[in-house]
Amino acid sequence: MAELSRIGLAGLAVMGQNLALNIAEKGFPISVYNRSPEKVDETVERAKLEGNLPVKGFHDAKEFVHSIQKPRVIILLIKAGPPVDKSIETLAAHMEEGDCIVDGGNEWYENTERRQEEAKKRGLLYLGMGVSGGEEGARNGPSLMPGGSYEAYKYIEDIILKVAAQVDSGPCVTYIGKGGSGNFVKMVHNGIEYGDMQLIAEAYDVLKSVGKLTNQELQEAFSSWNKGELCSFLIEITADIFGVQDDKGDGCLVDKVLDKTGMKGTGKWTVQQAAELSVAAPTIASSLDSRFLSGLKEERMEASKVFKSVDLGDGNVEVAKQTLIDDVRKALYASKICSYAQGMNLIRAKSAEKGWDLKLGELARIWKGGCIIRAVFLDRIKKAYDRNPHLASLLMDPEFAQEMIERQSAWRRVVTLAINAGISTPGMSASLAYFDSYRRDRLPANLVQAQRDYFGAHTYERIDMPGWFHTEWFKIAKQTKI
Ligand code: 6PG
Repeated sequence: MAELSRIGLAGLAVMGQNLALNIAEKGFPISVYNRSPEKVDETVERAKLEGNLPVKGFHDAKEFVHSIQKPRVIILLIKAGPPVDKSIETLAAHMEEGDCIVDGGNEWYENTERRQEEAKKRGLLYLGMGVSGGEEGARNGPSLMPGGSYEAYKYIEDIILKVAAQVDSGPCVTYIGKGGSGNFVKMVHNGIEYGDMQLIAEAYDVLKSVGKLTNQELQEAFSSWNKGELCSFLIEITADIFGVQDDKGDGCLVDKVLDKTGMKGTGKWTVQQAAELSVAAPTIASSLDSRFLSGLKEERMEASKVFKSVDLGDGNVEVAKQTLIDDVRKALYASKICSYAQGMNLIRAKSAEKGWDLKLGELARIWKGGCIIRAVFLDRIKKAYDRNPHLASLLMDPEFAQEMIERQSAWRRVVTLAINAGISTPGMSASLAYFDSYRRDRLPANLVQAQRDYFGAHTYERIDMPGWFHTEWFKIAKQTKI
């Protein structure tokens, strides 16, 4: 009888293929399966070419399942939603009690929780595992966020500890928690990713449209930023992008890319969840709104004609380039801290609601490598939560607070400059407003409360005595009207 594989993987698109090869390369024989058989053959061929890796391909679901040693573990890397249910149906028919399914897609966490219940009825264990890092990460070391059955996690722990990205503080994987927590954490990771990308795009816009930096100067600025506090994957790839020439015409490719951002849904879910949980996440929300607005390309082109005659500045402001580059770096960094504070607070709120007991510092640790938001500064976030696991907000950590104080004037200069030049910086402005709202002991919410009580008798609290009060504002105002 042929030797059985240690694990199986179904769904051989880009991520699936690369993760399967990564697992095989770490010394775990793997069986692979895909609905369309060409992908299976392609993966087996790649395994041969990339060092005769122990990958066995199957065109038949039953043979695939039976080629895996018991208790069987099958990772699914399939488009989230109904296709996952379909694949589970096909594969589970051949699986046995104690076997385990691991969904590695960007799945909505409640779908995972439903499937966990359904799997339980069949005697199967189930994990929803966030996988971040794109094609390269999947092949050479992603950040992994498994949540659900702890028993299932233990089955695959030896594999995922080796497959994940390795950094100074260990492999970028940990057992996240029960239920759909792995998917939820990956969803917020993506929301933060949206925020980071938007903030970087705004930095680019200010430097290009106001500072008149060329693509080469932009590349130099981003490369130098990548040596300091902003050092991260997204800053690094941004610097690379400015250096890529158009292979179909003159100039840089980035200038030819249509300014319409696509999306698959995780950023939108993050904002919806923030609203559900009453957690302010304005930086992440502004990144989503910016994607929506970018989609209105034709409408924006018409609007630009309508408002052409209005002198909005449009970047015609004299600035010293190096000062601007330094200011924008500081504005980007301070905005980023606010965005991560929002994401972390969202995770904490969900954890409290669901009783997941998520460890924010540990999440920052597993994001240090492998994933799209990997960054040097995540180590500092981890340390902030190590110092105080009950930190109300990252902004309250003494080190981050000090950094915000040091950067706030540069940040205000950048936002003001952009506003005066007619260049929108929704992410940076939202972060700054978040900071300014958070740090003030008195907000104009007193007036909103008074208005609510005026027209709807919603009552209000007072600053000088306990209880709830209602005032006949209208009557009193009428008597005293001038
Ligand atoms: C990752 C990425 C990856 C993908 C998302 C976001 O962590 O590897 O987040 O999962 O890029 O699907 O994509 P959209 O921008 O298309 O929503």
